[in-house]
Amino acid sequence: MSNTFYVTTPIYYVNDAPHIGHSYTTIAADVLARYNRTAGRDVYFLTGTDEHGIKMVKAASEKTLSPKELADINAPHFKSLWEELNITNSDFIRTTQPRHIKRVQEMVRRLVDRGEIFLGKYEGWYDEGQEEYVTETTAKENDYKSAINGKPLVKYSEENWFFRLTKWTPKLIAHIEANPDFIQPAARRNEVLSKLRIGVDDLCVSRRKEKLPWGIEMPNDNNHVVYVWIDALSNYINALGLIEVGDEYDGKFAKYWPASVHLIGKDILWFHAVYWPCILMALDIPLPKTVFAHGWWTSNGRKMSKSLGNFVNRETIEKYCLDYHRDVYRYYLLRAVTFGGDGDFSADMFKQIYNTELANGVGNLLSRTIKMISKYFDGRIPAAGPAVEQAAAVEKAATELTQIADELMAHCAFSKYTDNVMALVTATNTFIDQTEPFRLAKDESQKPRLATIMNTCAQAVRIVLQYLAPFMPEKTAQGLATLGCRTGELGKFGELPAGTAVNPGEPLFMRKQ
Ligand code: MSP
Repeated sequence: MSNTFYVTTPIYYVNDAPHIGHSYTTIAADVLARYNRTAGRDVYFLTGTDEHGIKMVKAASEKTLSPKELADINAPHFKSLWEELNITNSDFIRTTQPRHIKRVQEMVRRLVDRGEIFLGKYEGWYDEGQEEYVTETTAKENDYKSAINGKPLVKYSEENWFFRLTKWTPKLIAHIEANPDFIQPAARRNEVLSKLRIGVDDLCVSRRKEKLPWGIEMPNDNNHVVYVWIDALSNYINALGLIEVGDEYDGKFAKYWPASVHLIGKDILWFHAVYWPCILMALDIPLPKTVFAHGWWTSNGRKMSKSLGNFVNRETIEKYCLDYHRDVYRYYLLRAVTFGGDGDFSADMFKQIYNTELANGVGNLLSRTIKMISKYFDGRIPAAGPAVEQAAAVEKAATELTQIADELMAHCAFSKYTDNVMALVTATNTFIDQTEPFRLAKDESQKPRLATIMNTCAQAVRIVLQYLAPFMPEKTAQGLATLGCRTGELGKFGELPAGTAVNPGEPLFMRKQ
């Protein structure tokens, strides 16, 4: 079995600065990347920016900039936010880079050569926000407005290049049916399947230059540019050098394909679950293993909007990172809602999760454990003595977590995963309350029993911190250091050697008022 793991985020439009939605997917991808690295896999993690298309032209002209100038201003905002959020991407691709442009053209050339792209005529509605043609039925259903942003659809009539999407959809349907994990979560998979069964049209893959000059020129027709979605989707293979064009990127990271998971938001599922796999099939390239669509964040119960002032923009993200810690922001996003469902961002909820789970939960457990080991065992983790009945619940919670972690990560089930970590935290805190080590410490004859209790706690905290590390790399590293443990491991209960010296340190998470 291949030991590679390739995770991608969407490449983000650089018509504006990054916000919570972008950070959400990128953090999720980072957690998967970090987890899989620690689990011993060879990981490649790609993110980047989508810089062509009508959105860019419009946004740039409002600012009297060229689209490339605007892209050059905004792309670094994404890069630097990822640094601030401690994202460990392997590469950052920009669709205006020559390595990408050359490969888009080569890909289109191959499709043309194979007869997969033909010249046809398009007449109908266009959603400029989504960069997408809309069928008459859908347009009518939505009162000739965009289903996504409510803006009026625009009437287009033009000769264009089309991809034979209809040729491939029966094969795609069969693939989705045979591979339950291909589109996740399951509800989204069913939506895609029903829509596919209704039927699709061939896909228009070019735009006339006089309307949209800002794009990659079609290799077979210099009056057209490549449709921005075809350009954008191919970034996932272009960064790996899968398509060879005679430069230094050729085949460089080809071993990572097929992608283990494309992480995306629910609004762009159709592009990833239908157009992209059909294009890959037409090119004879294997399909990604999973496309996972997450939900959307609202803010204080309402859709985020600049005019409502509830937009969780970069400044807000930075404020939370400063007030709490960037690790806490990372944790909160993946903890507060089930990945796949929608979620609401609120300051109260943020504080509540922080206080309950991190300050009173993880932080308190670590500091109690370290304090007692320092006090009762001169700062060295004691070897376990005779069995203590209540310890079984702690060991059980730890074993459950370590056994199920891989499966949960493979399904991006971040909140279930953290449920399991929190169950171990609670079990261990309860264990301390039940066994009352502070009372036993007063009676020398109870020392062997006390040793078992403290050993159990240390084992448990180590597992808690190791398994939280993909979410909170710095806080957990700090915690593991106080426990005398290395980072970068996903161990099992019981592996922490007796005799290890603990080093009391600063509390990990101070309670917030
Ligand atoms: N450029 C395309 C993607 C091309 S991928 C080959 C694009 N870019 S985007 O910048 O508009 O959006 C990127 C991602 O942000 C999408 O996955 C979208 O779902 C996500 N989000 C935008 N707003 C969001 C929220 N409010 N909440 C969560 N995610 C949201 O689409």
